[in-house]
Amino acid sequence: MYLSIDGIQKSFIGENKQPVTVLDNINIEIDKGSFVSIVGPSGCGKSTLLYIIAGLEKADQGSIRISGKVVKNPGPDRVVVFQEAGLFPWLTVLENVTYGLLIKKIPKKKAEAKAIDILKMVHLSNYINSYPHQLSGGMKQRVSIARALVMEPDILLMDEPFSALDEQTRMVLHKELMDIWKKTKVTIFFVTHNIREAVLLSETVIVFATRPGKIKEVIVVPTTGDGITTDSVTLHTEQRILAILEEEIEKVLKEEMGDDYSFKTNHLHRNDSGDLGSHI
Ligand SMILES: Nc1ncnc2c1ncn2[C@@H]1O[C@H](COP(=O)(O)OP(=O)(O)O)[C@@H](O)[C@H]1O
Ligand SMILES: [Mg+2]
Repeated sequence: MYLSIDGIQKSFIGENKQPVTVLDNINIEIDKGSFVSIVGPSGCGKSTLLYIIAGLEKADQGSIRISGKVVKNPGPDRVVVFQEAGLFPWLTVLENVTYGLLIKKIPKKKAEAKAIDILKMVHLSNYINSYPHQLSGGMKQRVSIARALVMEPDILLMDEPFSALDEQTRMVLHKELMDIWKKTKVTIFFVTHNIREAVLLSETVIVFATRPGKIKEVIVVPTTGDGITTDSVTLHTEQRILAILEEEIEKVLKEEMGDDYSFKTNHLHRNDSGDLGSHI
């Protein structure tokens, strides 16, 4: 297997100074070039798992292997795209995208040519000399994706990359990300709390249970023979995931509300974006 997440265990020290298990024996096998999403209620450990894969956080137990080789530290083979673009405000779009290449001692001309190629792919060729403050949220996030892709990672780790964007911009970026994935064949590990987004984009959706984070179910998104997911299949898959998650959301609400808890599962309704609001 290409990316192996093997028996990952992680605790943090909680408010009462006791260790709290956040990830409990997580095992995932990911094929090269696949697109896998993790969905689950907020606080279930999605970001923690992504950071462990990135090498930004250490697991207490278990290992991450890429093509059989254990990885413990950050490396250029795994690049993270965060919810906030995190661009350098004093650098232009082109300078932001070439930054990582110049650190790797790639000659400036070559770095710029490569960055311009990638910026074309995210439809930003007309903005290479703009500064981040001159860009919309969606454009900033495209720069952030370009900055990741220019490093030619084997694995793109995306932590709710579109959560801060409006619905229309998000739809445009979904399409762009699909095109990028097909063109580059990069392996994508995508964290989101938006069920529809996960179903639309990925081949496999891993549904997490919460407190501690565990794999509750692995859903393979059905496609037609030509790899296209139809609307009815999307909706059906979304509803299936929602049904699995409702129990988890109820658990979180009960914990947070204590005696004030008076919800019934069937009071939870999906809004149009497939998003359950702040509890997922
Ligand atoms: N550095 C940390 N120190 C202490 N607790 C943390 C730390 N990082 C995350 N946590 C806790 O671990 C749990 C999972 O966090 P996170 O992985 O960010 O969840 P998610 O991304 O699914 O919302 C949360 O309860 C969070 O408060
Ligand atoms: Mg998170």
